[in-house]
Amino acid sequence: MAGCRSWFLFLTVVSVAHAEIKFNIPAGKFFSYELMRETFQSDFEPLSQLYLGHLYDDPMVFKCNKQYFPDLPEWLRFTQRHPYDNGFLYGTPTSPGKSVIEIYAINKRSYETTRQILVLNVIAAKSPPYQAEFFIKLREIEKVLPPTVQDEIKQDLQKLWDTEALDIVNISNALDRGGRVPLPLAGHFEGVYVKAGSEQNFSACLLQAQTPEHQRQCATGAKVKVPGECNFCSIPSNCISWCSTELFDLSQLEATLPAPTLGSGVLEAGENFEPLESPEDRDFLPDYIVTVIVPLVLAVILCLLLSYIMCGRREGVDKRNAKTNQIQLYHHHTILDNTDELRSMANHRGVPPPRSTLPMFDSRTGARATPPDSPRMPLIMAQHDPNVDTLPRK
Ligand SMILES: *[C@@H]1O[C@H](CO)[C@@H](O)[C@H](O)[C@H]1NC(C)=O
Ligand SMILES: *[C@@H]1O[C@H](CO)[C@@H](O)[C@H](O)[C@H]1NC(C)=O
Repeated sequence: MAGCRSWFLFLTVVSVAHAEIKFNIPAGKFFSYELMRETFQSDFEPLSQLYLGHLYDDPMVFKCNKQYFPDLPEWLRFTQRHPYDNGFLYGTPTSPGKSVIEIYAINKRSYETTRQILVLNVIAAKSPPYQAEFFIKLREIEKVLPPTVQDEIKQDLQKLWDTEALDIVNISNALDRGGRVPLPLAGHFEGVYVKAGSEQNFSACLLQAQTPEHQRQCATGAKVKVPGECNFCSIPSNCISWCSTELFDLSQLEATLPAPTLGSGVLEAGENFEPLESPEDRDFLPDYIVTVIVPLVLAVILCLLLSYIMCGRREGVDKRNAKTNQIQLYHHHTILDNTDELRSMANHRGVPPPRSTLPMFDSRTGARATPPDSPRMPLIMAQHDPNVDTLPRK
């Protein structure tokens, strides 16, 4: 019976894990969703709560994307500071439509993954005409996104605005707006921008942020405090930076925008179509000279110059021979003769044997000497070898 019950429990947990979570969000209102690590942990080990009485606390990372797309919708951002922290999806949708978000949680201990589906249905809504942006210096985005903190900030702003009808329009990390990464020291924070909107006109306190006196004070770079009667911040880290407060009055903007006039969608009938007269003749000769003739002339000149340098300035074989040392010339001729001889031998069979194989000959004239009597006589006389005593003595 107990086994059956746990099996049933397991089934319900699994079916919850695969259920879609749906949200209807009005366009222009801030949306945030906390990815609770505890929820995903019970997906990874649905039975450990039952048998161990507690859940593990595994590090987890999340990967979020729009279904069938590689990334999130443009308006939605994801942040998670550390695998032991919860993640947040947040952003302000601007146009109506439906987005299906897939959230994959990866357990960094066991490398199991699980998936959650979030269906965000953005419905058309009017954005509040009066908006104001505040900078909270001593916060980081993950510390501001939990709903309790958002409520605290909203309550402070409601007092500052002097109205209950106030909504948070946008919360963004100062780093996304060109802020600098702070030093990793205590007391240094990234900073968060909170934009709120209301139907109610700005309060007297807020309007002080638009006075020229306020702007002059802030321009000096001094630390300007929130005017005493307007300082409502109960928690020091939620206090706004007074100089970074900006007001946006969208009510006048809407009034000045002229409504587009819609036509019938069909062009009015006009006169007959008159084609343009053919354009004037153009003189292409200068273009032709510049692009064709000039390069051609240059090429011919270069060609002539090169041929003169290569061919016209050679000194001639006779002159060179006259200048050359006789021994060197003789050596050169021998090499040439030998080469010619080898070539002619290679040409065809049945040539006379090379002269160097003949018994005795004058290498210059080719005239043969009388063959020696002794068969041990070398074919070529080794004239410079004094050890050989078979030399003919004269
Ligand atoms: C919210 O703030 C982010 C970051 O500055 C910005 O990209 C986005 O356009 C803002 N959304 C709205 C609706 O103002
Ligand atoms: C809201 O306040 C501003 C500044 O005082 C003023 O110019 C504007 O007319 C007010 N709007 C309405 C609708 O009262």
